[in-house]
Order: sequence, then C-alpha cells, then structure tokens
Amino acid sequence: MIRTLVVYSSKYGSTRDAAKIIALINGPAMYCTVDEFKPEYKEFENIIIGSPLLQEKLEPSIIEFAKNNRDWLKDKAVSLFCTCLNKNGGLEQLRSLEELIEIKTVSMKAIGGRLVLDQLDETDHELIKNFFEYVKLPFEDMDFYNDEEIIQYAMKIKYLSEKNLVQLEDNKLKTAIDEFLSSHNTCTLATCHLDSVRSTPIEYNYYNGFLYLLSEGGEKFANLLLNKNVSVSIYEDFDKMNNLKGMQISGHASLIEHNEEFNSVLEFKGLDIKFIKSMPIKMNMIKIVPDKIEFLNSKFLDEGYNIKQIYNY
Ligand SMILES: Cc1cc2nc3c(=O)[nH]c(=O)nc-3n(C[C@H](O)[C@H](O)[C@H](O)COP(=O)(O)O)c2cc1C
Repeated sequence: MIRTLVVYSSKYGSTRDAAKIIALINGPAMYCTVDEFKPEYKEFENIIIGSPLLQEKLEPSIIEFAKNNRDWLKDKAVSLFCTCLNKNGGLEQLRSLEELIEIKTVSMKAIGGRLVLDQLDETDHELIKNFFEYVKLPFEDMDFYNDEEIIQYAMKIKYLSEKNLVQLEDNKLKTAIDEFLSSHNTCTLATCHLDSVRSTPIEYNYYNGFLYLLSEGGEKFANLLLNKNVSVSIYEDFDKMNNLKGMQISGHASLIEHNEEFNSVLEFKGLDIKFIKSMPIKMNMIKIVPDKIEFLNSKFLDEGYNIKQIYNY
C-alpha cells in the first residue's frame, strides 16, 4: 500500500483546502502543517509539499522544511504545488525549490488561489492595496481556486505514485487475474452519463480475456449507449483485514450482435443457442474490454508484493 503525506503551509486557507483534497484522493494519507509534522511520517512513500505564493515567494517555513528534510525526501516520490494568482510566478518558485533541495520531483503544479480582502490581516491588506494601485488593478477579491483543477492534479499524483508499487511480474499478475475472474460469476457493473449513475449486480462470464454479460435490457443501456466507459467490481465478502480480495476493472463496453461471437459465448455458458434466439424477448449481450485492472489481494502482501496490483492492458 502506498501512503501519502501532504505537508502544507497556508495563511488564508486555500492551500489547506487543496492539501485536504489531494490527501483524500491519494488515501491512505495524512495531511499536516510543518509544525504538526511527526517523525513517523518519514515512512510514508508519496510526499506532497504545498505552499501559497506570497510576495512572489513560497512560504519560508515550507522552504526550511524541504531543506531540513532533504536526506529522507530524496528517496521518495515528491510532488510540489503552490496556490497563487500568477501561475507562471508560482511555477518558477516551485522550480527554484526543486533546484535548491536538489531533488528530482515527480510532479509540480501551480494551482489557482484565492484572495479575499476581508480575510487579510492589516499588513497584508495594506500591502495588497498598494500593489493593486501600482499595477492599476481594481482593489477587489480574486478567486481562481477551482476544485476540479485540484482533483485532476490529485488524480495525476495518484497515477504517478502507483508506478512505485512493488509489482508482480506481468505474467504472474495476469494469471492471478484470470484465476480470480474465472472463479467468480457475479459483478457490479457501474455505468454513467452526465447526472445519471447506475450500478447493476449482474452475472458475467470471463471468456477469451473479456467479460460477457447477458441482459434482457434495462436502464444501464441508457448510460451505455451514451458513454461506453464502465467500471466493474468483483469482490469477496469482507472477512478480516488480512484476507481482502477484490477487483476493480476500468474498461469499455459494447453491444454484441447475434453473430458468431454471441453464439460462442452462449455455447461457453452452456446455453442452447436456438432456445435463446427463439425467446419472445430479445436477449442482449454486453462485452467489456478491460483497460485497467486494480486487484487488491492479501495473498500478494504475504508474498512480499504490494497488496494492490495494477494491470494495464
Ligand atoms: C500578502 C499577499 C501576497 C501575495 N502575493 C502573491 C504573489 O506574489 N503572487 C501570486 O500569484 N499571488 C500572491 N498572493 C495570492 C496568494 O498566493 C493566494 O491568495 C493564495 O491562494 C493564498 O494561499 P492561502 O489561502 O493558503 O494562504 C498574495 C496574497 C497575499 C495575501
């Protein structure tokens, strides 16, 4: 399991809000300020450092933290972000920090920040007022903070950190995936389009590396016809924490015509093709082509690998 730590500094809350979102999406995770940092956090694998940009500089406490902790940070996957109004200026400062601590970061991002005049202390209020006068900007709030931008960045960090999982060799992982899929027969199929979300418990067959689902029809097709992207879960009942087994498949779905492929799946299922075709209602077949499989299995951990294994097709 990869654990994520977000160390941040925030004067007026924007960087803190961003840090919380990044930690949430990269869980298991902890977020803390420099003052709240505990030595045991050094064990975390994925480290993200965030600061506001104030007077064209990152917060001194964050720079100090990065400098003082360089020894262990250099062996980690480190990402840097700042919240700011001027993203070019923010990125420049992040690059300088990267150079200063001599660590090759895995990602870096200047995120839109907020300036709420009513929140500012007296010194900052005066400072900003003078600056806005000087650059001839109206003295008013500025809000470039956007949850979606932060969520996208958090997802990017997640994907990058997954590259550091202790992975099983591809062929062994594929065998374990095939075994699991072949020894189960029921999944939850999640489909979506705009505000419409649907999860459907449904029987599947794993055949030739694809999932085939036979269906009389229904609401899932309202989503599937407009969005072929699906997520499929297959899992065993929870028993205890050291016996977890579950799989999430991200893939794309299509409808199979009554053709040779349709017939061979029916044959595989042990169904009479003539009977299915003579039914008074039309039976539909969904084919799911996996793009990515995330497989959580305590057995992997026992064998010295990460409990979560990812197979990209
Ligand atoms: C005193 C002060 C100076 C600032 N200086 C800059 C700056 O030089 N460049 C910039 O892009 N944003 C600047 N900002 C905007 C902040 O980067 C932005 O408001 C940020 O989101 C604040 O983060 P926080 O809410 O976590 O403290 C400044 C804001 C304040 C209050």
